[in-house]
Amino acid sequence: TVKPDFVIPEIEALATDELVKIEEEGLATVVPTARAAKLTMNREGIRRLAAEELGLPTSGYEFCSSFEEFQAAADRLGYPNVVKPVMSSSGKGQSVVKSQEDLEAAWEYAMSGARVANQRVIVEQFVEFDYEITLLTVRGIDPATGKVATWFCEPIGHRQEDGDYVESWQPMVMNERALDNSRSVAARITNALGGRGVFGVELFVSGDDVYFSEVSPRPHDTGLVTLGTQRFSEFELHAKAILGLPVDVTLVSPGASAVVYGGMDSMGVSYSGLAEALAVEETDLRLFGKPEAFPTRRMGVVISTAENTDTARERAAQAASAITVHTGEDIFK
Ligand SMILES: Nc1ncnc2c1ncn2[C@@H]1O[C@H](COP(=O)(O)OP(=O)(O)OP(=O)(O)O)[C@@H](O)[C@H]1O
Ligand SMILES: [Mg+2]
Repeated sequence: TVKPDFVIPEIEALATDELVKIEEEGLATVVPTARAAKLTMNREGIRRLAAEELGLPTSGYEFCSSFEEFQAAADRLGYPNVVKPVMSSSGKGQSVVKSQEDLEAAWEYAMSGARVANQRVIVEQFVEFDYEITLLTVRGIDPATGKVATWFCEPIGHRQEDGDYVESWQPMVMNERALDNSRSVAARITNALGGRGVFGVELFVSGDDVYFSEVSPRPHDTGLVTLGTQRFSEFELHAKAILGLPVDVTLVSPGASAVVYGGMDSMGVSYSGLAEALAVEETDLRLFGKPEAFPTRRMGVVISTAENTDTARERAAQAASAITVHTGEDIFK
């Protein structure tokens, strides 16, 4: 039998009660904690902790279990609002409700996109933010004191389409107040979740104001950019923090990442344009090795560096657009 020291959740959708048991029985350390995995898998858990227990600023919200409740909540919160199944990710089942006319379609879509049937939804007021960031926050051991301390990576800016990230860049230049507020929100939520490791704290920024959106208790998709920008990537930092090794969040170069999409349905995939993509200056490529493509599936990511994030974004976009996914050998046949 395997007796692991650590159980490190890599994805969100898990039997988190099993993680709770593992932790309670002292079988292994769940990273960062079983409670963090459980709370963040369900939007209701993490939102109530953030807004109601910790008093962090968030969009106005309500939870609903039926279409009638949803209708009433949307009217109270106003339009536009955003509806999401409480258990979903990557924008699945999520839509912006512009007016009462959109309610029915939004409800149907939320029900179809939910991870399990008959799920509750969260309705949120639409936040007219200036920009949004991921603040990678690391809870590790400070070698000077032997105690848990918190580090913040440079903020990562990103752009989402249909609730899914398409590009990210680091550093996102922010005014000092907004950055201080972001760090304060990130410190409070990660401190409440506890344990050690990397957290991706998602924040909306409007002027100096910062709204907590959600948090991953693990490396974050928008943080893939750190494979090119930081001395230690978010994955290396996660490992270091878990093992109690010194944490170093140094940014080495500004950079950007761009997602490579499937663009088509195919069992078995191959790629063209890779050499062209890699010919773009200061550019690297990671293909995820997924055996099957569909149009909106993320198949890989391009990471570029440059002397500023604007140039890095141009390079990453150019390289990503050079790559085409084709039908390949179906390895399941
Ligand atoms: N209340 C809101 N107001 C304005 N924009 C929002 C709101 N909620 C979500 N969004 C937009 O939709 C994106 C995805 O939302 P959210 O992170 O809640 O969904 P998700 O399914 O968990 O996505 P992911 O798994 O990719 O993080 C946000 O990054 C933001 O751009
Ligand atoms: Mg998100």
